[in-house]
This record gives sequence, structure tokens and C-alpha cells, in this order.
Amino acid sequence: MLRTLFTRTAENTAGFILPLLKPGMRALDCGCGPGTISVGLARRISPGHLTGVDAFAEHVALGRKQAGKFGAPNVGFQHASVYSLPFDDNTFDIVFINAVLNHLVKPLKALAEVKRVLKPGGILGLREAFTQGTLYSPGHPTIKRSIELIIASVNQKGGDANIGMRINGLVKEAGFSDTTVSASFETMGTPDMVKMIAEDIALIFSGVDYKKALLDAGLATNEELDDIVRFYSTATEETIQFIAMPYLEVICRKADDSARKNNAEGM
Ligand SMILES: C[S@@+](CC[C@H](N)C(=O)[O-])C[C@H]1O[C@@H](n2cnc3c(N)ncnc32)[C@H](O)[C@@H]1O
Repeated sequence: MLRTLFTRTAENTAGFILPLLKPGMRALDCGCGPGTISVGLARRISPGHLTGVDAFAEHVALGRKQAGKFGAPNVGFQHASVYSLPFDDNTFDIVFINAVLNHLVKPLKALAEVKRVLKPGGILGLREAFTQGTLYSPGHPTIKRSIELIIASVNQKGGDANIGMRINGLVKEAGFSDTTVSASFETMGTPDMVKMIAEDIALIFSGVDYKKALLDAGLATNEELDDIVRFYSTATEETIQFIAMPYLEVICRKADDSARKNNAEGM
């Protein structure tokens, strides 16, 4: 399990939607991972309720553990795919998605499903990475190569590691309106955080399936992959000072046709 996922909170990851959360709302965190963001969002909408869904059963179990740890009674976790959400039409006031669409082969299908479960006038807060724009210091060639391979690996599986740059267009194509775009960084900026991300990257590149896919596709050589694992496993404060990943964020709404109809009738 990647340790950096557990450092995400509502404050450091979902800041762009926090002002929109109101007590009593019904919220959904799609692809919630281990639930560290979900519990913070739930606290802000109490006595409303937040549901976290994830396609990976282990993450659902971790989310439930997280809710117990933080004593969050108004949050629940369900095992489900964003492609087929187990909720009625028009259920949620707000849906949050962070770092999920980049893994999906059909992001528009996912957005259509999210739109279905949002109430008319409901809000989507979507945040996705632009991995290509990752900042780091000092500029070591092994870091550059590892980022290239992370992008190639996501893209090879049908995802898009740079989807952040496209999310504004995607939500419009999916029929959402009133879009506002912003951007933020996920920064590993202390020695402890850098050590954690370095260990996570070493773990990713040590994965047998991960390596095999890159080798089979001719995207990397064994020597390169060994070099990346060695570099990150032995990283020091001198070899990596910080790593900062850029994210694009969009807030948008499901159109409220009834409001539009009432306005038109009143004219
Ligand atoms: C990079 S993690 C992000 C987790 C969390 N949103 C966060 O920011 O900490 C991506 C998450 O998306 C989940 N995921 C991938 N495909 C999914 C799908 N089709 N439906 C629901 N969740 C999915 C993964 O299991 C994983 O937990």
C-alpha cells in the first residue's frame, strides 16, 4: 500500500470545494481510496451524510477503519465502480473525485454516471493530475525518466496521466455547466515526506506486474528499472529536496432544468 495516499486530507486535497460544503448535505466521494479525505469532508457536512465508494475492496475496508479511528458517524463506505453507482438518480448534493479519472479508460462514461446520481443543481468537484508538469529539485535524470515511465504505464493501460489538463473540456462534454477551473500542487516538501514518496515510487517500480508490463511493451529496460528502484531506495535530502505534482481542479454543476423552466414560465 502506498503510504503517501494516507497523507491526503480534506484540507490539503479538497480545499477548492470546502467553501461549498454545507451542514446537512448528502455527499459522495468517488474512488475514495483509504478514506482519509472522506472523513474530513463528512465532518463539514454533519449532520448530513457522506458515502465513499471505491472499486478496490481493500480501500473500502481501510475507509471503514478510518471512520472508526476519527469517530465519524456520518460516513459510510461501499464497494462499487464509478461506472455503475449503486444509487438512485438525483441522490447527492455534491460529488468529489480526486485522482481517479486518470486511471479510467472511459472517463466520460464515469462522468455521465456521476451526473445521474447528482441532484439537479448539484455540484461536482473534480481534481486530476497533470503528471508531466511534476516539479522536483535537483533535476536528476533518473527522476525525469521515472516520471516518463509512470506516464507511459498509466497511458498503456488506457488511462491518461495528464488528464488534469482535459477535465474542463470533459465535464462540459458530459453536460455539466457553470465550470470554474483552479490548480494546486501536492507537495512532498519535508525530508520525511520526500522519504515517503521515494519509498512509494521504489515500491511501484519493484512490482512484478508493473515491471513486466513496461518490459513487455518495450517501454523500459531491466537496467533502467533497477536504476530507478536503487535511486529511490537510497534517496537522501541531497538527491531529492522536494517533489510537487500539479493538479487541475474543476467545480461544475448539473443543470437544474426545473429552475430554468420556472424562470421561463414566469417571464
Ligand atoms: C490514486 S487513488 C486516489 C484515492 C483517493 N481519491 C485519494 O485521492 O486519496 C485512485 C482510486 O481510484 C479507485 N478506482 C479506480 N478505478 C475505479 C472505478 N472504476 N470506480 C471506483 N473507484 C476506482 C482506486 O481503487 C483507488 O482507490
